[in-house]
Amino acid sequence: MTTTRVLTGITTSGTPHLGNYVGAIRPTVRASKLSSVESFYFLADYHALIKVGDPARVQRSTLEIAATWLACGLDPDKVTFYRQSDIPEIPELTWFLTCVTGKGMLNRAHAYKASVDKNTAANEEPDHGVTAGLFMYPVLMAADILMFNAHQVPVGRDQIQHIEMARDIASSFNHLYGEHFTLPEAAIEAHVATLPGLDGRKMSKSYDNTIPLFAPRDQLKKLIMGILTDSRAPGEPKATEGSALFQLYQAFASAEETAALARAYAEGIAWGDAKEVLFERLDREIAPMREVYEQLMKDPAQIEKTLKAGAAKARAIATPFTTRLRHAVGLRSLDATDSGKTNKATKAASPSFKQYREKDGQFYFKLVDAQGKLLLQSTGFASPRDAGACIKALQDTPATLPPEVVRADDAQSDEVTQALQHFTQDKA
Ligand code: TRP
Repeated sequence: MTTTRVLTGITTSGTPHLGNYVGAIRPTVRASKLSSVESFYFLADYHALIKVGDPARVQRSTLEIAATWLACGLDPDKVTFYRQSDIPEIPELTWFLTCVTGKGMLNRAHAYKASVDKNTAANEEPDHGVTAGLFMYPVLMAADILMFNAHQVPVGRDQIQHIEMARDIASSFNHLYGEHFTLPEAAIEAHVATLPGLDGRKMSKSYDNTIPLFAPRDQLKKLIMGILTDSRAPGEPKATEGSALFQLYQAFASAEETAALARAYAEGIAWGDAKEVLFERLDREIAPMREVYEQLMKDPAQIEKTLKAGAAKARAIATPFTTRLRHAVGLRSLDATDSGKTNKATKAASPSFKQYREKDGQFYFKLVDAQGKLLLQSTGFASPRDAGACIKALQDTPATLPPEVVRADDAQSDEVTQALQHFTQDKA
């Protein structure tokens, strides 16, 4: 079985809060411990520059987020944990991708459109205050993902469109220059709750209602005491439904603990006592990690070293891959002979794989020869990743056809083998 490559980035623009912990950090650290995955986690500091114009804050946030992930149990020996700006190949790939990205597609990005709509409503120029960085955000993100040929990208729902764009961009590049990129998929954690903040709305920096994950104990307590509740007096039964306090508790407590608090609600627990219960439960999970966090924050040099080691690991992939991509697009030494296999004008002279999606929702590919004659046709795959894995298997061992692939009626078996060997040689 091939291992699944999972990759996700965290923009270094703020301080991690309980919502980030429950929604992203905790599930991700757990998933990274599975042996069937190869994980890449990175600090998206190039992305931070799009929203943050304060250098000290970018640096501080990078340190805080790195320390948080490590304190929450991310093992840098098991995963590849790095800082985006330590990988100079990322901006280079961003440019290659920029050149195959339709501007019209970027015009339709939700974040960009929201800015335009806001301006229009305020009677401003549509692009008022919009930087080219904001506009290009999806392309930079596509470079993050495609550089490591990630199969799965765990993200929040608001990021799904970005993953779709990354797939589109990858297809355009592959179409023009050959199959270099895996088409990534978004992995949405369906059962992860969105945490309410202090005021009951979704916990979010933009609502200013967050509880910092590693607030010192006394500050954590103070914040929890400030959670909005209704005005029911002690002794009066309370509703768990719509209670931010209850939802916060549920995100940390076991099923039995949660049931016990529900009973206490029905029996009229005082809000102050319920907050005390919540505080103690949260602190029980957080305190040991907080201790590690505080140690790490005192030693930025150690974190810097960890990130540099992660960058070396990431670049062991990114550097040779970029060399291959530079060659593919024609940025080549002038005395290198053009193999004629990947550039657009001569592309028709080589066999190629075509990946596509049918109306049935499944993913397919076919292999055609230099003249466009059909050689192989795949059956449907549930995901582009499965289709990609099958293509890779074909390229690695041209002599054996996997069961998901059918040879075209008028194609000879040595014709097929020859065409497949083309890819094997191409890689060497
Ligand atoms: N845009 C993501 C967010 O704001 C952060 C991010 C940057 C990212 N590059 C990525 C996430 C690549 C996944 C993959 O949440």
